[in-house]
Amino acid sequence: MSLESIRFDKVQGSLQILNQLLLPETTVYEPVNGVEDAWKVIREMKTRGAPAIAIVGALSIAVELRHKANTGEFKSTQDVATFVNDSFSYLKTARPTAVNISEAATRFMKYIAELSKNELDTKKFTDILYNQLSQMLKDDVTTNRKIGFHGAEYILANSTGDQVTILTHCNTGSLATGGYGTALGVIRALSENGKLSHAYCTETRPYNQGSRLTAYELVHEKIPATLICDSMCGCLMKEKGISAVVVGADRVVANGDTANKIGTYQLAVLAQYHNIPFYVAAPFTTIDFGLSSGSQIVIEERKKQEMIYFGNKMIAPDSIDCWNPSFDVTPADLITGIITENGVYKPDELKKVT
Ligand code: MRU
Repeated sequence: MSLESIRFDKVQGSLQILNQLLLPETTVYEPVNGVEDAWKVIREMKTRGAPAIAIVGALSIAVELRHKANTGEFKSTQDVATFVNDSFSYLKTARPTAVNISEAATRFMKYIAELSKNELDTKKFTDILYNQLSQMLKDDVTTNRKIGFHGAEYILANSTGDQVTILTHCNTGSLATGGYGTALGVIRALSENGKLSHAYCTETRPYNQGSRLTAYELVHEKIPATLICDSMCGCLMKEKGISAVVVGADRVVANGDTANKIGTYQLAVLAQYHNIPFYVAAPFTTIDFGLSSGSQIVIEERKKQEMIYFGNKMIAPDSIDCWNPSFDVTPADLITGIITENGVYKPDELKKVT
């Protein structure tokens, strides 16, 4: 069975997340009883990954919406609309770089404006929104399977040989999404079709999403894989016959520039030097057509403790100055293709699909 980062019971109106800070050692699900809980688990990175952040945010609104409706807190459809819109606005502030939660906020704001024209009673209005918010989890898995399909097909069509070897970065699998994964979904699809020779994943310092989460998922899925330190990527590309690099994204902008986990940019530079195709796998909800260039993306900077400590162990003097950007921007001209649920686009083709 696939790993589950988000457990949502639509009938009960309950939500739990797998606390990813404790993996791979311990599997603990924590309740998320509403928007405030969701903000905290996202901020603390107990749940993380651009799609998962949006889904947990939306489902936390659904859970609180249901509770407030049951306790008679909404007097009108306007109360409901204000609650949902304000909740999304608040959740957007938990982490700035991943765009999916902002995309969901904009989408729901428009949906609510349309729904409000129908003069529904408060219960009906609430039920429709509850269903719509709940749907995000299922939709994401469907989207990811399509990304996997298109990515696997495209990579194989553009590679020599019957099988491919893929390098990935950070965690983009079931733990970062509603299920199946984006970049890791492509690796899964290749593996399911017997077309994956081997996968390599980086540790992804300083937060180690690669070693703690991706390595864990690869082992769980029994996918042939090897963990490497981030400093080994150049050597790996030179020595190990990498067919393609496939990474996820936190925000792709209109010109194709892509923000993803810190270290992605250096992988793209190295891939170009070694003549290895470099793919970004992401759903359309990760594409921000409102920004024209990657320089406009706000990059989250995290606290230096993440670099100075490894768990409880101090690995650098605490008085050293640290710079800890959580993401970097890979320029579009280093990206071979953007793998989406609708197919694979060259970065400069994105403009045509708006
Ligand atoms: O800081 P994180 O762990 O939330 O960063 C995650 C990433 O950068 C992923 O590559 C990205 O969100 C894509 S997840 C499908």
